[in-house]
Amino acid sequence: MVIAIDGPAGAGKSSVARSVAERLGFTYLDSGAMYRTVALAALEQGVEPAALADAIRIELGDRVRLEGRDVTREIRSPRLSEAASRAAADPLVRAAMVAHQRRLLSEGDWVAEGRDIGTVVAPQAELKVFLTADPASRARRRARELGIDARQVLAEQALRDQRDATRAHSPLQPASDAVLIDTTSLTLDQVVDRIIGLVAE
Ligand code: DC
Repeated sequence: MVIAIDGPAGAGKSSVARSVAERLGFTYLDSGAMYRTVALAALEQGVEPAALADAIRIELGDRVRLEGRDVTREIRSPRLSEAASRAAADPLVRAAMVAHQRRLLSEGDWVAEGRDIGTVVAPQAELKVFLTADPASRARRRARELGIDARQVLAEQALRDQRDATRAHSPLQPASDAVLIDTTSLTLDQVVDRIIGLVAE
């Protein structure tokens, strides 16, 4: 079974998806971590992400590894958020990441988090959820996670939102059969309970 959880940055996807996976005993897939890791490898090697998207070895789990090296922390920096958003706009990069994600999801039970899980990666997912929240509260969440100023996050977030939503390939949008949940005034537990309820249905 696949549960797809999509939505913009800061809507609470990661905490929600991890928590739903834990409660159901499913495996959690953080697809954004894959785009971040490709972007990191490209920066380090001074090449375009598309040049190595097919060739690099990314392992996901409790830690994120690039060719065996633990990059869990490094990929969360604001510099990598920006580079990942650019990498994710490249159709060759997307094709490689989507193929990798489909291979993973083809067996077992998953909660997969991203932007295009319900629309492109796993349109057959048994449950699709699209999380949203107002921009200011998304920026506040992200700022708390990163320990930086919310105003700076808000400005950078607006740029990335714009790029993610208007790119030609797989722009961020809910699947037509996704359940929309606005998390602005909900607690993590309330969102998780709602999704567990939908699974039970
Ligand atoms: O969720 P995140 O912030 O870690 O994602 C990093 C970037 O990758 C972000 O700009 C959106 C992009 N992304 C994507 O285009 N498709 C996905 N399935 C996951 C992330």
